[in-house]
Amino acid sequence: MSRIAYVNGRYLPRAAAMVHIEDRGYQFSDGVYEVCEVRGGRIVDERRHLDRLERSLGEMRIAMPMTRAALDVVMRECIRRNRVRGGIVYLQITRGVARRDHAFPPAGTAPSVVVTARNLDVAANERVAAEGIAVITVPDNRWARVDIKAIALLPNVLAKQAARERGAREAWFVDAQGFVSEGSSTNAWIVTADGKVVTRQADQGILRGITRAVLLDAIKAHGLALEERPFSVDEAYAAHEAFVTAASQIVMPVVRIDGRAIGEGRPGPVATALRREFHRFAEAG
Ligand code: PDD
Repeated sequence: MSRIAYVNGRYLPRAAAMVHIEDRGYQFSDGVYEVCEVRGGRIVDERRHLDRLERSLGEMRIAMPMTRAALDVVMRECIRRNRVRGGIVYLQITRGVARRDHAFPPAGTAPSVVVTARNLDVAANERVAAEGIAVITVPDNRWARVDIKAIALLPNVLAKQAARERGAREAWFVDAQGFVSEGSSTNAWIVTADGKVVTRQADQGILRGITRAVLLDAIKAHGLALEERPFSVDEAYAAHEAFVTAASQIVMPVVRIDGRAIGEGRPGPVATALRREFHRFAEAG
């Protein structure tokens, strides 16, 4: 079955789904995006994702290109047309098409909207989660507004590639003070030896992950001790457990950091339980 993408008002076969060469997303990475999990054909936590989308657009001073209800229709239609049951829907909005000039284009330039949806190999992801993943640490060399979900992801791309080349699946950014900020496409968590779940507070130093927000609810409901604060690389090496969260992975146990085994070197009970419980706390559309 050929895949269908939504591009600026039209549903097109993927091979014909194009944006203009002067789209500001292409030339300047001048845009924002969202990735939502699709489960049983339904969008998970759409309300929170659209809230964050509106915030990112507001911070970038890009107009909402259509109503939330219309975006919802487009996302559902992409899921339906691509027969996605378990996977992701991707939504990207840029400042539109205009002659290349760094400053904003003329008022009234329409933002560009692209939506795609695809199945993920859910069984393969479960196998990965059962084994746990390796991460490496890299210096956090990103800009100071990573709380905006911008499509400008070059440091993240380079970090992820560095991880791949070192046999790992994720890279954790480490700030100038030696504290882990987050992963290249995930939020970072540890469970300390005394059972506290620790993740960095959601300030401008990390993306305020939707999976992270839902997991905080799950953690509180289970009465686990929680600390929202920075943790150092050494604290992570000494942790009992580690894991990452993102819409595309939910809770993914981490079993090695920079080649060192974490805890017993296999997925820990807290990460495993939180992965199992996650969808009880998420909203299904
Ligand atoms: N990444 N931090 C970064 C840098 C991210 O790119 C992401 C998401 C997260 C987790 O956010 P959420 O829980 O809302 O997915 C944290 C998406 C999935 C991506 O770029 O593919």
